[in-house]
Amino acid sequence: MKDIVKKGAIISLVDEQARTYLINTTDPTDLYRGIGLIDPSRFIGQAYGSKQDIGNKTFCILPVSVPDALKALKRNAQIILPKDAARIILSCSIRPGCTVLEAGIGSGSLTLVLASIVGPQGKVVSYDIRKDFINHAEQNLIRAGLIDQVIIKEKDVTKEIDEEPLDAVILDIPNPWDAVYHAWHALKPGGYLCCYSPLISQVEQSVHIIRSMPFIQDHTKEIIERDIVVSEHGTRPDFRMLGHTGYLTFARKRL
Ligand SMILES: C[S@@+](CC[C@H](N)C(=O)[O-])C[C@H]1O[C@@H](n2cnc3c(N)ncnc32)[C@H](O)[C@@H]1O
Repeated sequence: MKDIVKKGAIISLVDEQARTYLINTTDPTDLYRGIGLIDPSRFIGQAYGSKQDIGNKTFCILPVSVPDALKALKRNAQIILPKDAARIILSCSIRPGCTVLEAGIGSGSLTLVLASIVGPQGKVVSYDIRKDFINHAEQNLIRAGLIDQVIIKEKDVTKEIDEEPLDAVILDIPNPWDAVYHAWHALKPGGYLCCYSPLISQVEQSVHIIRSMPFIQDHTKEIIERDIVVSEHGTRPDFRMLGHTGYLTFARKRL
């Protein structure tokens, strides 16, 4: 039996250049950027995997996936990219049912990945000091259908953390070392701290504080990724490569 789009579903529309658009089938008729004027309810009852012609373009209807939601994310602040988000999930042992705190929310890119992993039994608490970033990220999470797993607070993580006990604390702020003390208190024994920082000087400051407190297994990584171009002329690494994003420092709470 074919899976069909149900009323209320959020779908991915993927065009022939692999550009991806998230559409909520309950949204009103409107001019959708990159698509044109559409009534989203037209997709209800269509089979997932089928093609739809809209104007002079052809789109494939797919169930929304996490990579689709990330591709369609509207960016505001600098985001944590999938290569780093994937490593954070694994290295912090984030699983369904976990309670995770992150700061700041920025565009909600990492929030979206975390929410999709912790699932309905878990929770992501996200702090940010800027209301404009919070509003922007909230819209991205609503569009991806993941807002129910997230609690957003306008709050400075360097001042205090309300929630405990936490499975993980992830800090993507300019001065993560100022929140390490609060993170330690909020974490479960064995819980993970991750500091994401673009600069080595930031890494050094964070590690200095981490090593002065009861943490174990601290280590810092950089994740390097490159695309491979496959064409009829041959297969080779892409000439362009993402040079640098950030360094990931991990540590685990002990008593
Ligand atoms: C680089 S962005 C985070 C991007 C986010 N991780 C993502 O993947 O989309 C940094 C964010 O941290 C917020 N921020 C800075 N200092 C903060 C603090 N002390 N407490 C909470 N949020 C803070 C900023 O307002 C900004 O939104």
